[in-house]
Amino acid sequence: MQNDKVKLSTLSKMKRDDRPITMVTAYDTPTARIVDAAGIDTVLTGDSAANVVLGYPDTIPVTVDELLHHTRAVRRGLSRAMLIGDMPFMSYNISIERAIENAGRFMKEAGADAVKLEGGGCMADTVRAIVRAGIPIVGHLGLTPQTAGMLGGYKVQGQDAKTARQIYQDALGLQAAGAFMLVLECVPARLGTLISKKLDIPVIGIGAGNGTDGQVLVYHDLVGIQSGFTPKFVKRYAQAGEIMQKAVESYCKEVRERSFPGEEHSFKISDEELAALGKTINA
Ligand code: KIV
Repeated sequence: MQNDKVKLSTLSKMKRDDRPITMVTAYDTPTARIVDAAGIDTVLTGDSAANVVLGYPDTIPVTVDELLHHTRAVRRGLSRAMLIGDMPFMSYNISIERAIENAGRFMKEAGADAVKLEGGGCMADTVRAIVRAGIPIVGHLGLTPQTAGMLGGYKVQGQDAKTARQIYQDALGLQAAGAFMLVLECVPARLGTLISKKLDIPVIGIGAGNGTDGQVLVYHDLVGIQSGFTPKFVKRYAQAGEIMQKAVESYCKEVRERSFPGEEHSFKISDEELAALGKTINA
């Protein structure tokens, strides 16, 4: 059972059975292999690739083509987990036709099983049209990084009754429009729990407390590769960045003192062949 491919029905059943759903980001094949082997349920090739692995300051500049490239790489490393492609800023906001076309590219050209987009009530028609085109869709509410500027920055959302109600209504609206799952980012834990209980579809939290139907973290935060600011909702399960840096330091040291490569990493030529070579190049 554990090895069966994760489908939409698997996730709905997990919600019904109150079994938490795991999600993590991945942007390349080796990471996809690691998280798949670890038994993750869903993998998001997030637009966070922009700042996490592409060196952009935020998620705004990343393009559909760049994210397709990363989603394809992740596809090649997964065998069990569901793959969700993330629609970047302006790939679904200009017109419904463009949104369907771009969402379709994630499935046709990158092998995604579903796509995710950010936004509340104003996205309902777009979500409905994408679902009607046969593309499973995940909503994203709360702190939506693509529009963080409009929300007053990277801040907790829904801390007063009025904004909390808006998030709740948006969640209901996305569910009614056909989204099969929802990511809820950076909202009070009690709001995360309330929305998860009220919705029939699974709600995956990031900074939304322990009462959601599942959790998502950015892989580089989880394994400790990311340096710099660590949001409150991140738990680092390893310090892989330190281990990686130490490995490269050891490599540099051994190359400089000529102890790498050793004999075990080198190829052989017989004495006779080397002598024959010597004769030809010394002649
Ligand atoms: O792009 C991303 O990584 C995300 C997750 C943080 C949910 O949207």
